[in-house]
Amino acid sequence: MIPKSFIQDLLNRLDIVDVVERYLPLKKAGANYVACCPFHNEKSPSFTVSPSKQFYHCFGCGAHGTAISFTMDHLGLGFVEAVEELARSVGMTVPHENTSTPSQKVAPDLYELMQTAARFYREQLKMAPRAIDYLKGRGLSGEIAARFGIGYAPDDWQNLKAAVPNYLDASMVDTGLVIEGENNKRYDRFRDRIMFPIVNVRGQIIGFGGRVLDKGEPKYLNSPETALFEKGHELYGLFQAQKAIRANQRVIVVEGYMDVVALAQLGVEYTVATLGTATTPYHVQKLLRLCEQIVFCFDGDRAGQKAAWRALENALPQLQDGKRISFLFLPEEHDPDTYIRAYGREAFELELDNALPLSGYLLRELTAPLDLHTQEGRSALLQNAQPLLSSITAPATALLLRKEIAALAGVTQAELEALWSIKPVAAPTRQPAPSRKPSRTAPSSSRTLLLCVVNNPSLALQLPTQLHIDGTESAAIHAVADWLNESASETTTAALSEHFRDSIHAPLLNQAQTEALAFGEKFDFDAEFIGILSKLELEALEQQISSLEVKGLSMSETEREQHRQLLRWRNEFKTRKQ
Ligand code: UTP
Ligand code: MN
Repeated sequence: MIPKSFIQDLLNRLDIVDVVERYLPLKKAGANYVACCPFHNEKSPSFTVSPSKQFYHCFGCGAHGTAISFTMDHLGLGFVEAVEELARSVGMTVPHENTSTPSQKVAPDLYELMQTAARFYREQLKMAPRAIDYLKGRGLSGEIAARFGIGYAPDDWQNLKAAVPNYLDASMVDTGLVIEGENNKRYDRFRDRIMFPIVNVRGQIIGFGGRVLDKGEPKYLNSPETALFEKGHELYGLFQAQKAIRANQRVIVVEGYMDVVALAQLGVEYTVATLGTATTPYHVQKLLRLCEQIVFCFDGDRAGQKAAWRALENALPQLQDGKRISFLFLPEEHDPDTYIRAYGREAFELELDNALPLSGYLLRELTAPLDLHTQEGRSALLQNAQPLLSSITAPATALLLRKEIAALAGVTQAELEALWSIKPVAAPTRQPAPSRKPSRTAPSSSRTLLLCVVNNPSLALQLPTQLHIDGTESAAIHAVADWLNESASETTTAALSEHFRDSIHAPLLNQAQTEALAFGEKFDFDAEFIGILSKLELEALEQQISSLEVKGLSMSETEREQHRQLLRWRNEFKTRKQ
């Protein structure tokens, strides 16, 4: 856990304009900055960055958030990673509260060392006709080899001695570039192999994959897991593919280095590969942050079929209603590399368009081995489907699949849900539908109050503790006031947004931020706030007065005194207002 106070300090140190500008050129427009939105395709800029609110918002697609959200969404990072990345950029160290995995410190020189090695391997390729011939033989152009930084490790035990400052330094082992054998004898991990650098989303080299040129085992040798490189988290080619993934709103996940490179060379640039591991839930989560659709396209062989099923299992908990995951099964003798070289880009992309949706694949695999004409078959279906469907958290997807399984098993949906002990989902509490274009007809007092508070959170400190407001906004306004009274050290819109990131109030607060932003600079939130407060105060007075008045003659003496006092306040209040 990262302490919330640290998040606030971090936001305080960052300027969202700087952060966004690391990735996008911004243009000044009035008090704000604008750019073409990186999260959807557009020709004229509707992506707005507000330095005063430390916030960005796209009026085209609704993308919206703080410097932290931007870093998460733009680089496809998780919350903790984004915080670490941003902290690093301003020289802060992220403290972790009672966590079992302390953040690994990576000395910057480890990255440098990897970079040095990669440069060395690239240079060596130029001088190795055998390696060049191999790559040419596989149809690679010089251009694509350069784009992926492909190199060659010569056939010697200590190649890197010539490339690095100190071959005996511990960092050489820490990066996995050398192996320490018996009697502390060191030698290069990669010898006589085509070298594929593995790059993280920031463009830093974190590992290598090395392929033999001829026959030999293993066919691919990969860097071990190190402080730089965690296989279940990284995807080969993601750095190069990021832009194309966003532009196409689609990513293809393949098994091999060569598949990524070949597809990119033939114009399908939105491809990544898992690194000799199964697709992890983390991979799926990361990719779904970047685009709408994932297509898994593994080899046509048995290993590929198995990899597809593992990918499905690990994708289930990450499914999001509205996002698509599909599977493209190639003919048995093909992998994506050989397929696209044999049939061309158009044929391949046509196959992608017709890929089997995850639900279809799931149902196909569940039903294929069973005879649903028998009771045993239908019962096995119910049993096999349960763990898979239970791991889906996307409500609509889970519901539709339950309906289908129920129909296939010849039971009603209610019977299936009773069997699986699924409690009926309570009707969601009414969340106002997100409105892209906030209406400018007068919002309710509580809505306006909420807009004022998200625009300038410190206003909430002025709210009376006994505030009576109606509407869905009430709980959110009270939560903001509590936060400010109890723990907030920063009172910016961005701090508010981060504090409530995972809370039940997040959707409403985000929406209010969008609306407040749409009102623009001309709207005087502070004046509006004062106006509403006094209106609410007056309403509360009237309420108290009338509740006493209904008692009429039966008012006690103290109540009569209270009544007179309230009437005086009301008069004062009204004269003050005039
Ligand atoms: P494949 O055996 O399908 O190789 O392994 P490939 O990608 O088609 O490679 P080429 O076309 O023969 O050059 C798929 C992936 O599995 C991992 C690698 O990431 C490889 O790209 N792998 C495979 C290993 O890590 N080690 C191995 O020995 C083999
Ligand atoms: Mn291959």
